[in-house]
Amino acid sequence: MPMCGIAGYIGRKEAAQILLKSIRNLEYRGYDSVGMATLSEGELHVKKGTGKVSEVGEKLNFTTLPGKLGFAHTRWATHGEPSERNAHPHLSTSGKIAIVHNGIIENYLELKEELTDASFRSETDSEVIAHLLEKNYKGSLKDALLKTIEKLNGTYAICAMHAEKEEIAVARNGSPLAIGIGENENFVGSDVSAFVEYTKEAIYLDDFEIGIITPDSVKVFNNEGRELHKPPMRINWDLEQAQKQGYAHFMLKEIHEQPQIIRDSLSIQIPPLQKPNKIFMVACGTAGYAGLVGKYIMEKAAGIPVEVAPASEFRYSSPIIGEGDLFISISQSGETADTLAALRLAKEKGAKTLGIINVQDSTIARESDTVIYTRAGPEIGVASTKAFTSQLIALYKIAEKFSGQQYPLDSLAQKVQAVLDSEGQISKIAEKYFKVYNFLYIGRGFNYPIALEGALKLKEISYIHAEGYASGEMKHGPIALVCDEVPTIAIAPEDSVYKKSVSNMQEIKARKGKIIAVATEGDSSIVQHATNVIYVPQTQEELYPFLSVVALQLFAYHVASLRDCDIDKPRNLAKSVTVE
Ligand code: F6R
Repeated sequence: MPMCGIAGYIGRKEAAQILLKSIRNLEYRGYDSVGMATLSEGELHVKKGTGKVSEVGEKLNFTTLPGKLGFAHTRWATHGEPSERNAHPHLSTSGKIAIVHNGIIENYLELKEELTDASFRSETDSEVIAHLLEKNYKGSLKDALLKTIEKLNGTYAICAMHAEKEEIAVARNGSPLAIGIGENENFVGSDVSAFVEYTKEAIYLDDFEIGIITPDSVKVFNNEGRELHKPPMRINWDLEQAQKQGYAHFMLKEIHEQPQIIRDSLSIQIPPLQKPNKIFMVACGTAGYAGLVGKYIMEKAAGIPVEVAPASEFRYSSPIIGEGDLFISISQSGETADTLAALRLAKEKGAKTLGIINVQDSTIARESDTVIYTRAGPEIGVASTKAFTSQLIALYKIAEKFSGQQYPLDSLAQKVQAVLDSEGQISKIAEKYFKVYNFLYIGRGFNYPIALEGALKLKEISYIHAEGYASGEMKHGPIALVCDEVPTIAIAPEDSVYKKSVSNMQEIKARKGKIIAVATEGDSSIVQHATNVIYVPQTQEELYPFLSVVALQLFAYHVASLRDCDIDKPRNLAKSVTVE
């Protein structure tokens, strides 16, 4: 989900000190810009800038902002590059209303057109909220907020204040928001990590609810303005657990975010693109395997030849690329040195360049002719999971655009959720295998790239040696490795290559190799060939990678967890590889 962090404070203490700490605790939600607004003696004070909380907070002296109420925001850009003017808080035209927002306002362009009297200062979707509030304000912030949210399509967690009111107004739909209940002071947070150091009592807003918060009271209303009785809940998490929302690791949290990320990604718009003669998909590691799935879908759906190259080799293979070709770079960070160097070469040779990038305004995004931003939100775990899924969605949407075909991508979130729901079974299988030293992963067709990705996930977080192969390659060498101590993960859903996948499994079984099959729910005959089975829901051939990869992410995670590995920060690895 597009993420940003929101923190609010109202009480008897200086707000800025508290807000700076709170927003630092939310930095895992976004880190491209930061801002803070406080209210003192009928005047709003705002500071904001690009960069991380610690840098910006210090450089701009956030703690000098006066007042005992205010809010802060750490941004993960979706609309508008990371810049000072696009950073939150945003002010209304008169400067009397300030807001911070997390989410996406889908109809912001229409709303902007209606707000003819407003002076817009940013390129964000969020700013319309400040102007709508001003238009609707007739002396009650609560009424203005109710009228405003009526107009908004999309997702939001909002904090708002008016220069003449000693209160903070909040609203939520689809983006999280919690209110921390203190003594003579109250707090707001995108999650409880914003205030868990100060209070263990919280009210969680539900969708279409709003709240009005003063130092001594918290009132929650439904979207018709009727007051609701919501008793506070006890928070049992410490700060670290709160940031991971109770998950043991960021990686596990990110694996579980995938259904929501798929839903958020469905609204990605593919810019106009001329059908190229040839596509080059160039990326590193997991992003490269997304590109390989991209080759299968693009060639099948759109009939465009696709060459996939590891970015680190692209320059050294004398690539035959030029005008009329489309160079697609795929990168979560947008900063990977090899991918960037490959992009520069492709541009030099006259190809059109398209970046599929997660981090807004990153170098590769800036240097590509066109960018499609994925909607994975910040990925903290070093091992990439949700970014991969979001890259696949972007690639499938490009294939749809080139081919005019439609894939039922909207069915995927639910099916991925079903895979996540089988985590208990997957972790039991992990218990049987976590002590082995070597693993083979095989897949055919659309699941060949997933065999590579599954093996990469296992090796990077559990340090078990794992090799991914195209199933048909086994006979050409790797099958010599098979014995009862070297298990194989065979991805074998019921697709057009199912029978061939099964015969590869038989060859392994005949050599005493143990097999964990990833198979389609209801395929009862697979148990004859496999030692263990992970079932995924039935879907159409092209969509299985979305399901099989999640099963293998969970498998790798549980193996690594049983081996007590440092899952979020595996040894020798960095999240962003900015050297060649
Ligand atoms: C593996 C992993 C890496 C990255 C690779 C590219 O889990 O995270 O293989 O996929 O380093 O990074 P980005 O996508 O930032 O270019």
